[in-house]
Amino acid sequence: MREGKIGVAILGLGTVGQGVVEILSKNRAMICNRSGIDLELKKVLVRNLNKKRDIELLPEIYAQDYNEILQDKNINIVVELMGGLNPAKEYIEAALKAKKAVVTANKAVLANYAPELFALAREENVPLYYEASVGGGIPLIGPLNESLVGNNIKSVMGIINGTTNYILTKMSKEGRSFQDVLAEAKALGYAEADPSADIDGLDAAHKLTVLIALAFDTYIGLADIDTEGIRNIDILDISFAKNFGYAIKLLAIGKKTDSGIEAGVHPTLIPLNHPLAAVNDVYNAVFVNSMEVGELMFFGRGAGRYPTASAVVGDIVAAGRVISGSGKSLPRKFTTGKTKPISETSGSFYIRLMVADRPGVLGEIAAILGQNGVSVASVIQEGRDQDRVPLVFVTHEVNQGNLARSLQTIASLSCVKEVANVIRVERGY
Ligand code: NAP
Ligand code: HSE
Repeated sequence: MREGKIGVAILGLGTVGQGVVEILSKNRAMICNRSGIDLELKKVLVRNLNKKRDIELLPEIYAQDYNEILQDKNINIVVELMGGLNPAKEYIEAALKAKKAVVTANKAVLANYAPELFALAREENVPLYYEASVGGGIPLIGPLNESLVGNNIKSVMGIINGTTNYILTKMSKEGRSFQDVLAEAKALGYAEADPSADIDGLDAAHKLTVLIALAFDTYIGLADIDTEGIRNIDILDISFAKNFGYAIKLLAIGKKTDSGIEAGVHPTLIPLNHPLAAVNDVYNAVFVNSMEVGELMFFGRGAGRYPTASAVVGDIVAAGRVISGSGKSLPRKFTTGKTKPISETSGSFYIRLMVADRPGVLGEIAAILGQNGVSVASVIQEGRDQDRVPLVFVTHEVNQGNLARSLQTIASLSCVKEVANVIRVERGY
């Protein structure tokens, strides 16, 4: 097993490149502790040294000549985050030929050149990883390559472009115009350098070629993917679709049928109660349907600096494991610990009391909650003139110790027949 540091070079210091640099530097010790791989950022290739960026690096880290990186024996992993076809393809090839592992987020390069790049990586026997190329931060390529390797996959279907999903969501929820929301998606770093790739469905088609190759062991070129974008979707269409009980989403679908593979990217109406209809904003979701495991859904942020960088860093570590010879064989190191006492944690709760229906009961109970710092978000009382009626509260976020103390006091009141139920409320993301 190879000991010591693994040298990393990043090509391109844009949205994703800067996120990767930040995660590598902030989480270096944690990554090393978890994986045994000590990743050292050696060089970052930029076009313009004077460009204002969100992060600053030591001057010696910057490079403008790719040969400096290729010739550096201490650089083991090249991370291509420039985008575009050329020189990205040539740089990836040169890195593989120099026996450096390659990590890329570039689905355009894969959609166009995957067969030759994969063949070269196999020939040189070096890793070529691309988790961030589909689904941004969602772990999807890894599971398809590993956990699901024993499955016969019948179809892959999903929302795999964050920019168009963001635009359709904002048009639908806020009635905003296409152009207005596009500008926002660009500012948030979701859109490609040329956003027409997103809007016209090409980016989703790029990603579908990657998914299909992994799912069906078959590379389908872009020309064979029937592709349509969202340019023609009007707010009116979204509103009519809603009236009929549908959402409009840009869906990418690959199916393996007895008569061949079907592949397409289209704006599609899906019922509002379908799980994909609830996938909004920059989120992506992919359904994989296989003979063995059945349906799986992968969901998460499909674009953006840190989600994408998260996937890239995962690949860098995976490549580091191969280079160091540790593979995945070493179990993780853990320390032993204890959880925080429940009384110190907080949460929001539904509380159902059974109380006597007489004047002043609500006031008595509310006073006890207030004295214990328990804030009530809503309250309902049902029934009338009975011995036991339900009095139901939903609290705001409260300290559990305070809640327990207040319920103990409440339970001892003569008007309270029973603390019938206390249920956690999780409001989700
Ligand atoms: P970006 O913000 O446009 O950054 C690309 C960077 O690469 C820019 O800083 C650019 O320099 C630099 N660059 C381009 N050509 C170069 C060259 N020949 N030499 C040196 N530097 C060069 O793009 P990004 O959003 O980070 O995307 C990077 C890659 O990740 C793309 O393949 C994209 O498709 C993929 N990706 C992005 C996301 C996302 O959410 N953004 C998600 C998944 C995958 P200049 O600044 O001088 O132009
Ligand atoms: N432009 C792409 C998107 C970036 O919006 O999904 C993530 O691949």
